[in-house]
Amino acid sequence: MRVLVLGSAAGGGSPQWNCNCAVSQAVRTSTNGVRPRTQSSLAVSSDGENWFLLNASPDLGEQIKANPALHPKQGTLRHSPIQGVILTNGDVDHVAGLLVLRESQPLVVYGSQRVLGFLATNSIFNVLNPDYVRRQPLVLGEPTPVASHDGKHDGLMIEAFAVPGKIALWLEDTSKGGDFGTEEGDTIALRVWVDGAEDQALYYIPGCAAMDDSLAQRLKGAPLVFFDGTLWQDDEMVKAGLGTKTGARMGHMSQSGDKGTLAAFQDLDVKRKILIHINTTNPILLTDSPERRHVEQQGWEVAYDGMEVAL
Ligand code: MLT
Ligand code: MN
Repeated sequence: MRVLVLGSAAGGGSPQWNCNCAVSQAVRTSTNGVRPRTQSSLAVSSDGENWFLLNASPDLGEQIKANPALHPKQGTLRHSPIQGVILTNGDVDHVAGLLVLRESQPLVVYGSQRVLGFLATNSIFNVLNPDYVRRQPLVLGEPTPVASHDGKHDGLMIEAFAVPGKIALWLEDTSKGGDFGTEEGDTIALRVWVDGAEDQALYYIPGCAAMDDSLAQRLKGAPLVFFDGTLWQDDEMVKAGLGTKTGARMGHMSQSGDKGTLAAFQDLDVKRKILIHINTTNPILLTDSPERRHVEQQGWEVAYDGMEVAL
């Protein structure tokens, strides 16, 4: 399986358009090699020819331009190696890129029943002409062969399963209490592998509010996990004067602290751990920060746009 990191930042990207935090500034001034990052998404392929996107970020147009593997094949007037998109939630930074994929190209959009239901109620997504784009709900906990619009399965398998999380910001209902109406399926993780190589699966979990026992059991010994890297510290946006929300309020666990991501993975024996969906306020994006050193010492990699992984 080939994996391309199309984007590695959380919603807003890095630099974020209206942000002057240390990281956004460092990117703009090219200080110490701090890289620009687009909003998070992976492309995965079993054969290097046909690709599926894990989430469709608002930066998808730019991401396709930057990745020749996703360009139309030479010699055909209309073509895309992109066969479909698999959604992990309904957040703007994960679904807005669907709008970039209009233009009557055959595609399949996979997602939980919940998230596809929300997209169905929002008519802007009708730009994905149903004559060309099939929306296919994933049954949670069930291994599913990923197929292109013509039904061709090229070996890629996925299993979606629910993880602790929160309903998308634009769907929050304050009348429904502290969880804003969150239900199972609002945030899912993806296990992705190629038929016959189930022991070489990757996990894609760009949003996760907590490491519960069931998730820890699943991840134990995993070869490769891309995990929610939004914040270093739960209140870092509040402390920096950039907002009122903590990571917990947004449905993201943070790297530091007793219940943080670094501690939660300590005994899981995951072979390769990569932080993705990283907010522009997160000091791990500064190449020379103590936080960056710390996560690397703990065996983590910090995803960057253009990173490639083979499994
Ligand atoms: C998140 O990751 O929490 C969301 O992308 C936030 C948002 O939709 O702005
Ligand atoms: Mn996000």
